[in-house]
Amino acid sequence: MDHNGHGSRIAGFYRLPRRERLARLAERFGLSSDEQAELEAASPLPFEVADHMVENAVSVLGLPLGIGLNFLINGRDHIVPMVVEEPSVVAAASHAARIVRDAGGFTAEADRPVMIGQIQLVDIHESEAAAERVRSAHTRLLAAANAVHPNMQRRGGGATEIQVRTLAETACGPMLVVHVLVDVGDAMGANAVNTMAEAVAPLLEEITGGRARMRILSNLADQRLARARARVPFELLADSRAAGREVAHHLMEAWAFADADPYRATTHNKGIMNGIDALALATGNDWRSIEAGAHAFAARTGRYRPLSQWRVDGDALLGSIELPLAAGTVGGNLQLNPRVRLSLKLLGVGSARELAAVMAAVGLGQNLAAMRALVTDGIQRGHMALHARGVAVAAGAPEALIGRVIERLIACGEIKISKAREILAAVRMSEGLLVGS
Ligand code: MEV
Repeated sequence: MDHNGHGSRIAGFYRLPRRERLARLAERFGLSSDEQAELEAASPLPFEVADHMVENAVSVLGLPLGIGLNFLINGRDHIVPMVVEEPSVVAAASHAARIVRDAGGFTAEADRPVMIGQIQLVDIHESEAAAERVRSAHTRLLAAANAVHPNMQRRGGGATEIQVRTLAETACGPMLVVHVLVDVGDAMGANAVNTMAEAVAPLLEEITGGRARMRILSNLADQRLARARARVPFELLADSRAAGREVAHHLMEAWAFADADPYRATTHNKGIMNGIDALALATGNDWRSIEAGAHAFAARTGRYRPLSQWRVDGDALLGSIELPLAAGTVGGNLQLNPRVRLSLKLLGVGSARELAAVMAAVGLGQNLAAMRALVTDGIQRGHMALHARGVAVAAGAPEALIGRVIERLIACGEIKISKAREILAAVRMSEGLLVGS
């Protein structure tokens, strides 16, 4: 059950007209009429707000906001708002979540939201001695960092640890790198961490006798990992043509391929990020930072590997995922964008940690969906049907003719707008309608 005591399953949601979909959400999540109107309003972000967010703003670009259904995570239902341009990502996530739901759901958790701020120190003489002086000064350094964000510390977070690393050999000689570890609470934390890194830099120059250059957070947020797991009995993996045990075996072959080959692992992880990024976008988070952290983490052993692990466990497949997830539930974008606030309301998470745990589960589900599709029907069947719909709409097909245009587009295998226009004209002719009417 979700935070309002409702399930995340809404049967036939995809078949309902928009008004009905909104009505169902409004009913389940107690959306006010203003909130409903917000979901229906023409622009997702008023231009005046966009104009304050970036320089040289000229307009606002829209992307679809879809709802991933069926997610049961730590015994709680979540519907998952997903912003993504690619057809079939939302359907695939919902499908996998349905399978995992029948298996008892996902378990997921996330570490404390600790980010790393890096200060690079150059022109250091006797770096080991300088490193030792930094370690001894940790209380002063933490105080200097926390002085610029006292509220964070009052809320139980703030800078908690100083680490020192020596880069003995770089293209510009030896360097000392100081990490300030900061518990950023429910924020993504970039601004706070960057401010703290800048605040401690003069003190570090004084302590080490070196020059501080770079003062910025690291997107390899490996102190802030999230994990999810799912145990899926073989029988839930069956499709109309293959028994579950067989599909499970093929899934293991698919995973082994990704584990052995970075070319495949990259695509495997891209599929995972389809879900995570879509949720990151819907919740107003910096998906580039999440992407950067995820891929660096995937390569942490020196070889790029899958972010998910799958293995056979008795008569079931056991899937797990672990990755850095620097995502917040409070912060600038969130305050500015009313639909981001609504997405968070629909998702029903109470903290950044919970959001990260849900993201990990969504990534694992997305991975299961992609692998299962690839080892059974292949990805193109579902993908092309949705892609063809988009192309038919772009070609100007009216609602009444869309079905026939899609059918013929798929049959001819050429899913292009020019082809759709040709087909549309032919369909109209055969209907005795005037072309272009
Ligand atoms: C497409 O966006 C994602 C997939 O390529 C992922 C995968 O191959 O595992 C289907």
